[in-house]
Amino acid sequence: MPTYIVLLGPPGVGKGTQAEIIAKTTGLPHISSGDLFRENIKNATKLGEMAQSFMNKGELVPDELTIAMIRERLSRPDCSAGALLDGYPRTTVQARALDKLLTEFGGKVNHVPYIAASKATLTERLSGRWTCKAQGHIFHVKYNPPKKAGICDMDGSKLYQREDDKVETVSRRIKVYFDQTAPLITFYRQRGSLSEIDGDRSIEQVTADLLAVLGN
Ligand code: AP5
Ligand code: MG
Repeated sequence: MPTYIVLLGPPGVGKGTQAEIIAKTTGLPHISSGDLFRENIKNATKLGEMAQSFMNKGELVPDELTIAMIRERLSRPDCSAGALLDGYPRTTVQARALDKLLTEFGGKVNHVPYIAASKATLTERLSGRWTCKAQGHIFHVKYNPPKKAGICDMDGSKLYQREDDKVETVSRRIKVYFDQTAPLITFYRQRGSLSEIDGDRSIEQVTADLLAVLGN
């Protein structure tokens, strides 16, 4: 039976950072809806064009587009043993669509680690984040600096600051998270699949907690 892990938490809490690490430990592919949208934008696809206007404002991309994109990605052979989802689902409509899809694949959402941190922490992390152009590897000017400024340690590509990491957009993203995504905390808690993790600590401490709740 495949294993599906949903990493839940506000913008900047460290979902992508932890997913990169946990994907190596579990062997599950890291599927980030944000990365998939950014890839579509880079490749100038129709989906990318539609998603960009929402992302730049800090709004969610409509459910219909997001659900179709995830369905296609999870159907690929590399997800046959399951996946580590980062940034999806983000609304109850998406969560119900995921349940339906995973039933088709003979699986279900097994674990939902929910990482939380204060608003001050989120803002500081997003304002200091640098992301790799080629594959989305994540750095922080203070907490996880690259060996060479502006260059990705992993693949040597250039680092850039995400368009939606501007101060005004960050506040909008955090508000949208509390309005539209936070209800998923109760949704998964009621099913007994939620584990709460204190994200206001170092990257290593958060990884240790995550691996413990995932039984690794
Ligand atoms: P997405 O790309 O998913 O962004 P997000 O959820 O806002 O989260 P972030 O990627 O900003 O943060 P993160 O939690 O991954 O933190 P990170 O590890 O980078 O989505 C972008 C947009 O796409 C959305 O706004 C929406 O428009 C659209 N979208 C995506 N999914 C969608 C969906 N399902 N439905 C509709 N629309 C969707 O870490 C942040 C920084 O902190 C880094 O610099 C890192 O080095 C540092 N850091 C991490 N952990 C620690 C730590 N413990 N201590 C110190 N520093 C740390
Ligand atoms: Mg991310």
